Amino acid sequence: MSENSSPVALTVVGLAHYTRADQEEILGDSDDPFGVAWTGLTWLPKEDHFGIRHDGRLVAHAGLLRVPVAIGDTETEVVGVGGVAVAPDMQGQGLARLVVTAALEHARTMGPQHALLFCLPPLMPLYQHLGWHPLDTDVLVEQPEGRLATMPLRTMVTPLRDDVRWPSGPVRLFSLPM
Ligand SMILES: CC(C)(COP(=O)(O)OP(=O)(O)OC[C@H]1O[C@@H](n2cnc3c(N)ncnc32)[C@H](O)[C@@H]1OP(=O)(O)O)[C@@H](O)C(=O)NCCC(=O)NCCS
Repeated sequence: MSENSSPVALTVVGLAHYTRADQEEILGDSDDPFGVAWTGLTWLPKEDHFGIRHDGRLVAHAGLLRVPVAIGDTETEVVGVGGVAVAPDMQGQGLARLVVTAALEHARTMGPQHALLFCLPPLMPLYQHLGWHPLDTDVLVEQPEGRLATMPLRTMVTPLRDDVRWPSGPVRLFSLPM
C-alpha cells in the first residue's frame, strides 16, 4: 500500500462551540443542508458537540441536548441527538458512525435512559444499521408561541443502558425539537 492510500486515523473530539460557520465548514453554505426546511419547524441548538477534524478542517459533527419528554404517563428526559453531519467529500466512510458512537458514549453519562433523534425517512436504514429503532407513535413537539406540532419527520430512539425498554404511549417533547 502506498503512503497516500493508507487509512487515515480519525478521532472524535469534543468541540467547545459549534457555530453556523462550523456547520458550513462541514456541509457548505446551503440554505437547507438537512433538507427539512419544508417542515417549517423551529429547532433548538444542541449543547454538547462532537466533531472530527481532517487536515485541520472540521468534517463531521453530532450534537446532544437533554430534553424533557412525556412518554405515555411517564415524564422523563431523553438525550436528543441532532445536527449529525459529514462533509460531502468524506461521506460513506463511516464518519457518521464514528461521531454518533462517540456522542452516544457521552450520552450514557448524562442520566437519561434513551436517546432520540428526528430524521428524514431515507435516513432510517442508516440509523437502524447503527442500532436505532423507529417509533410508530405520533410525537408532539413545542413550537414558538406555545404552539404544538406533530413531528412530520421519523422519530428514532436507542437505549443508553442495557436494561431499559422504551415505555409505550404517545410522546410529547416539552421543548422545541432538536
Ligand atoms: C447522513 C450522513 C450524516 C451520513 O454520513 P456518512 O459518514 O456517509 O455515514 P457512514 O458512512 O458513517 O454510515 C453509517 C453506517 O450506515 C450504513 N448505511 C449508510 N446508508 C445506509 C442505508 N441506506 N441503509 C443501511 N445502512 C446504511 C453505512 O454502511 C455505515 O455502516 P458501517 O459503519 O457498518 O459501514 C451524511 O450523509 C450527511 O451529512 N448528510 C447531510 C446532512 C444530514 O442529512 N444529516 C442527517 C441529519 S438526521
